[in-house]
Amino acid sequence: MAGRRPVILVTRRLPEAVEARLVRDFEARLNPDDRTLSPEEIVAGAQGADGILTSAIDRLPAALVERLPTSVRIIATFSVGYEHIDLEAAPARGITVTNTPDVLTEATADVAILLLLAAARRAAEGMRLIRERRWIGWRPTQLMGLGLAGKNLGIVGMGRIGLAVARRARAFGLQIHYHNRTRLSPEREEGATYHETLETLLPLCPFLSLHCPATPATRHMINRATIELMPEEAVLVNTARGALVDDEALIAALRGGRLFAAGLDVFEGEPDLHPGYLQLDNVVLLPHIGSATRDARNAMGFRCLYNLDCFFAGKPVPDALT
Ligand code: DGY
Repeated sequence: MAGRRPVILVTRRLPEAVEARLVRDFEARLNPDDRTLSPEEIVAGAQGADGILTSAIDRLPAALVERLPTSVRIIATFSVGYEHIDLEAAPARGITVTNTPDVLTEATADVAILLLLAAARRAAEGMRLIRERRWIGWRPTQLMGLGLAGKNLGIVGMGRIGLAVARRARAFGLQIHYHNRTRLSPEREEGATYHETLETLLPLCPFLSLHCPATPATRHMINRATIELMPEEAVLVNTARGALVDDEALIAALRGGRLFAAGLDVFEGEPDLHPGYLQLDNVVLLPHIGSATRDARNAMGFRCLYNLDCFFAGKPVPDALT
């Protein structure tokens, strides 16, 4: 490696400052048109490359990882989530995988609160009313939503983002209940009530926000049976992963009024979300913008670069997952 810059295949267009640094310090194979690369294009583009800088929407399952050239020794993903990369196949090929924790926590927590408020206060309906010129003026009974103060917010997955949501939610007068694989220390709980199971959490929470990773165990954790455990007219927010929710069950519950509303930033099979959502007034839909602030996206890029720098300098890699 001495004397030559590492070659990096970059599967997505990245923020300008990040690409400028990539081009300065690496032999970067960029994707200026931001095209989705097919598995064949990834394998071809990685020929002779030392690493791949990828993102949450570019899938690297075992079958693809196994076809990568042996020159590839690191995959840095521009995301905190890493379920799109096979974490068994990669180390088996001697490939280190890194992600970008921390730097998108605040941005994502903001969007969870944005969706919570928008869903509870029917913001999407209100905006449509105005844009479609159907608003006939203030009425005492118009667009009545739900107040947050004094109620419970359930948080599923009390990691960095869950904690950041809890901090914000307390300012709105919400009391925090949470379910996590392990209970947090009292200092980190800050008065939140721990539930060992979803079954005890859900009945207490008129507001629920999901912050756990998508794994085989969490897939469709919100389904017909778990929705039945929630209070009547509850609100669900998902800024984590679409796979956590059974779309058919959620759509039926929103349509029938069993749930009051939902706020969704992520979808199973996105960008092809379930068409049923488009028919509903009581769902607020965002196109996976949880981390989409300039600050966070730059920080994610520089975090990937720092991991690559450390790796190629033979230093400990801060965000190594494997
Ligand atoms: C992630 O980082 O995992 C997000 O989904 C994209 O910001």
